[in-house]
Amino acid sequence: MKVPNHVAIIMDGNGRWAKERGMVRSEGHLEGSKTLEKLAIHAMDMGVKVLSVYAFSTDNFKRDKQEVDYLMNLIVKYFNTKFEKINKRGIKVVISGRKENLRRDVIEAINNIQEKTKDNKEGILNICFNYGGQEEIVDAAIKLATDIKEGLNVTNFKREDFYKYLYHDLPPIDLLIRTGGELRVSNFMLYQLSYSEFYFTNTYFPDFGKSEFNKALFMYENRDRRFGGINDKESK
Ligand code: FPP
Repeated sequence: MKVPNHVAIIMDGNGRWAKERGMVRSEGHLEGSKTLEKLAIHAMDMGVKVLSVYAFSTDNFKRDKQEVDYLMNLIVKYFNTKFEKINKRGIKVVISGRKENLRRDVIEAINNIQEKTKDNKEGILNICFNYGGQEEIVDAAIKLATDIKEGLNVTNFKREDFYKYLYHDLPPIDLLIRTGGELRVSNFMLYQLSYSEFYFTNTYFPDFGKSEFNKALFMYENRDRRFGGINDKESK
């Protein structure tokens, strides 16, 4: 089986999942967290090496304070106490995003989980939190500009060389999954998505379990990736 090395997920539909069950939106986020925990382990079991997920965008601060506070508290709880299975499975957790505007306990929880899992080698779970794709590129450009000012020679600088200026030096994304029925990228990992395959599903994220994930892997297996070239059959 051809397995994608790096899978990214836009975990959409938590609010609608909850609303359809007469629950408050936050309960959808709680259910989504449980799904994420299981999926991260399942993805690694299937041979995926890096899983990136969109947990909170820089624009999500526009939501009601109550929902924002709930998501912040959820993150603190998960990072401090609930990620034990992920750690035991040997998964390294990294967080991508800006730390400004975050509460001190959230920053501490982020530092804790990264420190606790830093030597894990079985795979990487990259959680995008207070994250924006354009912001990541801007922040990387500023770091590169600083290096240039300090004497870096960029005569032979290539697009691959830019990855190390991003929040984490992760490989390009092979497969992007978006749950919840919307067909857009929403400012998510724009640099890393350049040649990825897209998989959209109407399933809400809390219901996106192992078998749904496997469907996306199956679709990926049958895609013909050409990276701007042509495949062997067409060239003959
Ligand atoms: C989008 O659904 C989802 C979010 C803004 C939050 C996603 C967060 C999680 C799944 C929890 C992550 C937890 C950890 C521990 C990292 P939406 O609220 O926009 O849903 P809607 O489109 O149905 O309103």
